[in-house]
Amino acid sequence: MRKPIIAGNWKMNNTPAQAKELLEGLKPLVADNKTTEVVVCVPAILIADVKKLIEGTNIHLGAENMHWEESGAFTGEISPLMLNAYDVEYVIIGHSERRQYFAETDETVNKKVLSALAHGLKPIMCVGETLEEREAGVTDKLVAEQTEKGLAGVKDISNVVIAYEPVWAIGTGKTASAEEANRVCGVIRQTVEKMLGSEAAAAIRIQYGGSMKPANVAELMAQPEIDGGLIGGAALKAADFSALVNNQ
Ligand code: 13P
Repeated sequence: MRKPIIAGNWKMNNTPAQAKELLEGLKPLVADNKTTEVVVCVPAILIADVKKLIEGTNIHLGAENMHWEESGAFTGEISPLMLNAYDVEYVIIGHSERRQYFAETDETVNKKVLSALAHGLKPIMCVGETLEEREAGVTDKLVAEQTEKGLAGVKDISNVVIAYEPVWAIGTGKTASAEEANRVCGVIRQTVEKMLGSEAAAAIRIQYGGSMKPANVAELMAQPEIDGGLIGGAALKAADFSALVNNQ
C-alpha cells in the first residue's frame, strides 16, 4: 500500500517569525496522524529554523529546489550537500514556477533528480500542462514526456514522488476535476510502468497539486491514482493544511 503524502510548498512565503507561528499551530493539529506522511518544503533560508522547530515531530523537512552540482561558481544556488547537512529529506524539483520563471527544462530537472537521489534526497518531481497545452489536446503526451525525460537514468524509483500539477490550476482557485486529475495521474503511472516495470509503477506515489483545499481534498484523495497533494496556498494556514493532512 502506498502511504499518502501531503506536502506543503511554502514558495516565497514566511519570515522566520511567521514560520514559527505557522509550525507551532500546525504541530498539535497533525501530531496524532499516523496514516499520512506530512512534509513542509520551505525556502532555503528557513531550513535551519524549521529543522529545529519540527524536531521530534511527525513533520518531515523538504526544500523547494537545489542545484545538481555539489559546489562551485553558481551564485545564489543551494547544493545537495548543503541540504544533507541540515538533514533535509525531500526536495521539490522542476516546479512549474521554476520552469516558467527560472528557465528549468526537462534536462535540468533530470540532472537534479539524479543528483538528489545520488545524495540520498527524495525528489518530488513536478509535471503538468499549461492551459494552452490542455486546450491543444496535448496534456497526456506532454505529461508522459516530462515524466520520461525527468526520470531518465533513474533505476530505483522507491525514493521518488511525482506531483501532477496542472499549471492552470495553481493558485487560481480552479481545480482539475477529481476524475481528470485521477486520469492524468494514471497516465503518469503507466509511463513509469513502461520505463521501470509494474512493481515500480504500483509503488510510486503520485500527488495532485493545484488549488487543493479542505473543500476538495476528500474527493481528490478518494481517487485510486492520487496518493497525496502538493499544497501551495492552503499550506500557509495551520487549520487548512492540517485539514488536508487529516482528511482520511
Ligand atoms: P496552490 O495550492 O496555491 O494552487 O499551489 C499549488 C502548488 O503549486 C504547489 O506546488
